[in-house]
Amino acid sequence: MAKILVTGGAGYIGSHTCIELLDAGYEVIVFDNLSNSSEESLNRVQDITQKSLTFVQGDIRNADELDRVFENHSIDAVIHFAGLKAVGESQEKPLIYFDNNIAGSIQLVKSMAKAKVYTLVFSSSAAIYDEDNISPLNEQMPTGIPSNNYGYTKLIVEQLLQKLSASNPEWSIALLRYFNPVGAHKSGRIGEDPQGIPNNLMPYVTQVAVGRREKLSIYGNDYDTVDGTGVRDYIHVVDLANAHLCALNNRLQSKGCRAWNIGTGNGSSVLQVKDTFEQVNGIPVAFEFVARRAGDVATSFADNSRAVAELGWQPQYGLEDMLKDSWNWQKQNPNGYN
Ligand code: NAD
Ligand code: WQD
Repeated sequence: MAKILVTGGAGYIGSHTCIELLDAGYEVIVFDNLSNSSEESLNRVQDITQKSLTFVQGDIRNADELDRVFENHSIDAVIHFAGLKAVGESQEKPLIYFDNNIAGSIQLVKSMAKAKVYTLVFSSSAAIYDEDNISPLNEQMPTGIPSNNYGYTKLIVEQLLQKLSASNPEWSIALLRYFNPVGAHKSGRIGEDPQGIPNNLMPYVTQVAVGRREKLSIYGNDYDTVDGTGVRDYIHVVDLANAHLCALNNRLQSKGCRAWNIGTGNGSSVLQVKDTFEQVNGIPVAFEFVARRAGDVATSFADNSRAVAELGWQPQYGLEDMLKDSWNWQKQNPNGYN
């Protein structure tokens, strides 16, 4: 069975993808510097699957460390999650984001080319779409310059990978444009464990529910949406993990560089998320309305028909499952992996 290098595999989406890879019989080598994760997630992945993986602690910006991984293992393909993702922090520390996300990705493809490994699945984001596009967003719609440096790094890496692929037909690259990943593995043993104050809605909701935060601030209730709050396409992390397997299978059979949206195609408002969370889990979530957050759009959801048609992928989980599974993880692990 093929050997897959998973950069950033100890993180939230990476750890869920490792489970799917191991369950499908792939050999997995995780390469992660643990800057935003803990090796405990990988212990649990191995417990859940009853299969072992190889963990190498290292940084994608370090050529020697990466080259050594390719020398020591005959890697068939790479799934590249490693990077930094905090939108606010990317505004304060742009160089750290350019370095980790852009320079790190360049180093990764250099090491891949040196090792003659040309199959890559890259974690991109819906943040690369021009803000003026009207949802559902499809892959042909124009990209724009994202309002934050995090999103900008994703756009730059997408463009570099497209040019790289155009320059050498050996490359086979999937750009997966994630919408809003939430939820956790059904065991509740692995999940999202943000450091410090969460930036994203879902971990904020679960931390209020578990008593770690006083109340949720809802950013704006005067958008032109169903109830005035922002609408997003939440996607279960297990469905997202599965999309990586489908993309990997597709890329192992064809060449070139292609983008796929990974979302459910359904939009939910912040109030719908909060209310549904309360209903399905029986836990109140205190909240207040505050001003809009800079850079937010009213509505963003996917047209996922390309992924469904070309990857044979189909999301299995709805909003209720996502909210039950997020809570199942949080209540079993009130302080995350700590
Ligand atoms: P995460 O922070 O949980 O995982 C990222 C992992 O990469 C962490 O384990 C971290 O330690 C590691 N890492 C960071 N910099 C590294 C480096 N220089 N060298 C080696 N390892 C490094 O984040 P996640 O939510 O699992 O996201 C995974 C990928 O998906 C990221 O590239 C992220 O930008 C992208 N993405 C995430 C979302 C989301 O909402 N979670 C949405 C769109 C795209
Ligand atoms: C969702 C909705 C907020 C927090 C970001 C990145 C994107 C991708 C996913 C990846 C919005 C509202 C949020 C809170 C709130 N990132 N909200 N109170 O902004 O769609 O996307 O995460 O790595 O690139 O931009 O996700 O979860 O932050 O917000 O009211 O405390 O919840 O305004 O409408 P977003 P989010």
